[in-house]
Amino acid sequence: MPTVLVTGANSGIGLEFARQYGARGWAVIAANRTPFNPGDFAALGPDVTELRYDALQDRTAADLAQRLRGRPIDVAILNAGISEETTSAPEKVTADSFERTMLVNTWAPLHLAALLEENLKAGRAKTLVGISSLASQTGRYDVPRQFAYRASKAALNQMWRNLAVEWKDWGATCLTLRPGRVKTRMTDWQGDLDVDQAVRGMIGLIDAAEPAQSGQFLWHMDQPA
Ligand SMILES: NC(=O)c1ccc[n+]([C@@H]2O[C@H](COP(=O)([O-])OP(=O)(O)OC[C@H]3O[C@@H](n4cnc5c(N)ncnc54)[C@H](OP(=O)(O)O)[C@@H]3O)[C@@H](O)[C@H]2O)c1
Repeated sequence: MPTVLVTGANSGIGLEFARQYGARGWAVIAANRTPFNPGDFAALGPDVTELRYDALQDRTAADLAQRLRGRPIDVAILNAGISEETTSAPEKVTADSFERTMLVNTWAPLHLAALLEENLKAGRAKTLVGISSLASQTGRYDVPRQFAYRASKAALNQMWRNLAVEWKDWGATCLTLRPGRVKTRMTDWQGDLDVDQAVRGMIGLIDAAEPAQSGQFLWHMDQPA
């Protein structure tokens, strides 16, 4: 069966990706900073490997890549992300929080993607997914604040477009996806979508993805992102 790697698979959208791919019988590699709750782990499919990954500790990404050396990965979903200082006025946005947000949401996915290039090349689907947000869009999301988060997700989209160019030769499909406003810990369980619905929609996009779409930012609710 195919293999999916998910970062931040212990919570929210990442956990649901692990559940839904596990239910299909896929092998699931969960790259988690915080280990699964035992109950969640037990409910996943039969082939789950949990490895430690902290986006703020380069060594864990290197260790993860080392542990996975030679193992084909069909779909890598770089989902781990943070949202801090979402209500801070411009003058209150701190360099610390801005830097941390950019590291976790933007630099770490790029860094891990690069470390997993050979695994993706060896997989069949060769699909790299970044979990982005409507907040990444200029001109489509007129809500106040969220400065660092918006910058980090806009930059993530751009990095994925770069990767699509960089990896075109070997047939990679690099997508950024907008989940919708989903009821998870990040949104304080507020939102328009339940997590299973959002993830089912995103898996539909991943299933249908082709290399010709590489670099695109997609939305699963049947309208342009
Ligand atoms: N929920 C929404 O409406 C929504 C909308 C648009 C985009 N997104 C994106 O969807 C992704 C998942 O968010 P969620 O809604 O599922 O929120 P969540 O439940 O808070 O999940 C966030 C995940 O990211 C992990 N993470 C955070 N910092 C990390 C680090 N330094 N190293 C490794 N893992 C780290 C968390 O692990 P810990 O448990 O260890 O903190 C957790 O597994 C994020 O990228 C988010 O920006 C969500």
